[in-house]
Amino acid sequence: MAKVIFLEDLKSCFSQFIIILNFSHLTLPKSILELHYVNCIISRIFEETFSGTLKNGAMLKRIGTIFGVFILLGIIGFIVFNSLRGNSFEQTAVLSIDESQEDFNLKEGEMIKLPTVKKDGQMSLEKALTLRRSIRSYSSEALSLSDLSQLLWSAQGITNERGFRTAPSAGATFPLEMFVVVNNVNQLRRGIYQYNPHDNTLEVIHLKDVSSELMRASLSQSMITEAGAVLVFGAIFERTTERYGERGIRYVHNEIGHASQNVHLQAATLNLGTVVIGAYQDDEVEKVLNLDPEIRVLYMMPVGKLR
Ligand SMILES: Cc1cc2nc3c(=O)[nH]c(=O)nc-3n(C[C@H](O)[C@H](O)[C@H](O)COP(=O)(O)O)c2cc1C
Repeated sequence: MAKVIFLEDLKSCFSQFIIILNFSHLTLPKSILELHYVNCIISRIFEETFSGTLKNGAMLKRIGTIFGVFILLGIIGFIVFNSLRGNSFEQTAVLSIDESQEDFNLKEGEMIKLPTVKKDGQMSLEKALTLRRSIRSYSSEALSLSDLSQLLWSAQGITNERGFRTAPSAGATFPLEMFVVVNNVNQLRRGIYQYNPHDNTLEVIHLKDVSSELMRASLSQSMITEAGAVLVFGAIFERTTERYGERGIRYVHNEIGHASQNVHLQAATLNLGTVVIGAYQDDEVEKVLNLDPEIRVLYMMPVGKLR
C-alpha cells in the first residue's frame, strides 16, 4: 500500500515537473522550478529506500528533505558558478562603434556594439500598418547602422529582464537566429553577420560579398543585390520541437511570421523599403551562407532606402 501511495506521489511529482517546465517561464525562472521538483523527487526516493528497513518514518522524511535540500544547494551553486563564468566570457571582445567614424577595420569573429534602439517613435501603429507594402526596388544610398540596429531589434530584440522578445515565442523557446548579409551599410564591410539580441551586438561571421550568389540561389530576385542589407531569418527547430514534438515545427513557422511582420512595420516607420522572400532554393541559400547545419533559413528580407 505504502509503495502504491509512494508511486502515485512520485508520478505526481514528475507530472507537475513536466507541466510546470512547459510554462515555467510564465512564473519563476525555469531552473528554480526544476530544482524544486528535483528536490521533491530526491526526498521521495530517499524516504522509500529507507522506510522499509527502519521504523521511524517521520524522522526519515525529515532526513530525506534535508538530504534533498543539500543537493538542491549544490545544484544552485553549480548553476550560479556557471552563469558567472559564462558572463565573463561574453563580456570580452565587444567592439564599440562610434557612428561618426567612417569605416571599421573589422575582422571575422569580432563583436560590434550596435547603436541603442529607440523604444518610442513618431508614427502610430495604424499609420505603419497602412503604409506597409512589399517594396522591391531601392535607392543606392547606404543604410545607417542605427536603422539596421532598429530593424534587428524589431525582429528579436529583448524587451524584459527575463529575456522575452519583441515577437512571441512558443514556450519562450526562442528558436530564431537572425543573420544579416551586408551590401551597403555605413561603417560595415560587405559580408555575413549574426545578431546577438542579448547584448545588442553583431558578430562578424564572414567578410565576403555573397550577394550575387545569394541572389542566384533565390531565383535571381534582384532585390537581394540592390538592398543595403538582407535580413536572414534562421531557425533551430530542435529548441522548440524538443518541448512540443512535431507541433513545434508549426510553432517555429508561426514565430517567423511574427518576427518578420515586426520588421515590415518597423521598416515602414523608418521610411525604408522591404519585402519577405520565401522563394529560394533552401540548400543553395544555406550553402552560400555557410551556417551551422542545425540552422534552417526560413525567410529573407532585403531592406533598402526608398527611391
Ligand atoms: C510566405 C510568403 C512568401 C513570399 N515570397 C516572396 C518572394 O519570394 N518574392 C517576392 O517578391 N515577394 C514575396 N512575398 C511577398 C508577396 O508577394 C506580397 O506580400 C504580396 O504581393 C502582397 O503585397 P503586399 O505585401 O505589398 O501587401 C511573399 C509573401 C509571403 C507571405
